[in-house]
Amino acid sequence: MSQTSSADDHAQDLAAESLAGGSPTAWFEELYDAAGRGEAEVPWDRGAPHPLLSEWFAQHPEEATGHGRTAIVPGVGPGHDSELLASLGFRTTAFDVAPTAIDQVLAAHLDSPVDYRVADLFELPAAWRGAFDLVVESMTVQSMPRDVREAATLAVRSLAAPGGVLLVIGGVLPADHDLAEGPPWRLTRQEIEAFGADGLALQGIDVDREGNRYRAEFRRARR
Ligand SMILES: C[S@@+](CC[C@H](N)C(=O)[O-])C[C@H]1O[C@@H](n2cnc3c(N)ncnc32)[C@H](O)[C@@H]1O
Repeated sequence: MSQTSSADDHAQDLAAESLAGGSPTAWFEELYDAAGRGEAEVPWDRGAPHPLLSEWFAQHPEEATGHGRTAIVPGVGPGHDSELLASLGFRTTAFDVAPTAIDQVLAAHLDSPVDYRVADLFELPAAWRGAFDLVVESMTVQSMPRDVREAATLAVRSLAAPGGVLLVIGGVLPADHDLAEGPPWRLTRQEIEAFGADGLALQGIDVDREGNRYRAEFRRARR
C-alpha cells in the first residue's frame, strides 16, 4: 500500500488501535485528519491515477469514452482515479467512509464534476444497486480485515450494472505472507475470483511488470 515505510508504519499503528476499539474503518478518518494537519502521510496517495487503471484504458480504447456512461469509485481516497474517469466523460460518483477524505478531495478539485459522497460500503444507497457501467475498486477491499471480506466483496459487486465492468486493483499477496497481518490484507486468488458471482464473470487478471500489483476485470452479463 506504500510510498514510504514510515507512512505505512503510522497507518498500521492507527489501524491496530482502531481494530482493537472494534472499528475496521475509524482509522482512515484519523489518518486523513492527521495528514490534513501535516502530521502524517497518506501512504496510498500516488498523486496520479493508478497506473493499472490508466493502462486498462490504453489497452481498451473503446472503454475510454465515458460519455453516456456511469462510473463509481468505492473508497475513493485522494480522488485521482475518480478525476480520471470524469475527464474521460463518465458521469462519476465516488465515495469514502472518511468525511475528511471527501473534504480534502473536494478542496483539491473545486470545479470537479464528480459527485463525491461520504458513504459506507456496508450501507450503500439502494439507488446505487446495479447502477454503474464501470466500477473501479482500487485497494479498498484489501484495506479492511478479512472478516468483512465477503460483505465488502458483495457490496462492490452489487454496484455493477448489467453489461457493466468491475475492475479490482490491489497488491499481489506474497506466497509466504501471514494472512492475519495487515493492513493491507491483500486478497488471495480465491478472494479475487469471488467477485465473479451474481452474473459477473472474470475476464482476466493482469499483473504489473514488477509482479507487485494486479488488475482483475469482471463483466456482468446483459439481461
Ligand atoms: C487503501 S485506501 C485506497 C484509496 C483509493 N481507492 C486509491 O486507490 O488510492 C482505502 C480507502 O477506502 C476507504 N474505506 C475504507 N473502508 C471503507 C468503507 N467501508 N466504505 C467506504 N470507504 C471505505 C478509506 O477511507 C480509504 O480512503
